[in-house]
Amino acid sequence: MGTTAQSGAQPDSLAQAQVAGLNSAGQAIAMGPALSETEVAGEALFKGNCAQCHAINEVVVGPALMGLDKRRSERWLLSWIKNSGRMVASGDEYAIKIFNQYGQQQMPSFQLSESEIRQILAYVKSHKASGAEYNGAVAVVK
Ligand code: HEC
Repeated sequence: MGTTAQSGAQPDSLAQAQVAGLNSAGQAIAMGPALSETEVAGEALFKGNCAQCHAINEVVVGPALMGLDKRRSERWLLSWIKNSGRMVASGDEYAIKIFNQYGQQQMPSFQLSESEIRQILAYVKSHKASGAEYNGAVAVVK
């Protein structure tokens, strides 16, 4: 193909366009600087597998995922995302509480590798919001 005319578009212009977003209340969500490669991969996986039921900072079918790394260990999250039903059945206290809180609606199991799940978690973690945005969006398990 031609050797000219395409040099203007830098590959990271796409990532730049994703730097900020708005939540349903029109508040800006600060996402920091451009996403890393891992986070971009996680975003694609999130959109393909999770976004029908989850948003980062508001409840959809399931809880808002923002702040996951603050409330659950990576180990817990890996096993939950692979098979949440098995965790509920195993008697895990948090799993049972959140399952009941969301009307005992079982989240599907995912055949994702641990590195793919880590990419999704990195994408979720890339969202940092103020306390106000955080408030009420995240699952409150008592
Ligand atoms: C069909 C809907 C659905 C899909 C798709 C789905 N989830 Fe869920 N998720 C839920 C529901 C509902 C809950 C609440 C717990 C329950 O009811 O079992 C939940 C809970 C969670 C939790 C616990 C959240 C917390 O606040 O402690 C995590 C983590 C999670 N989901 C991650 C994911 C990820 C990552 C994906 C994509 C790979 C995904 N979910 C796809 C419905 C879904």
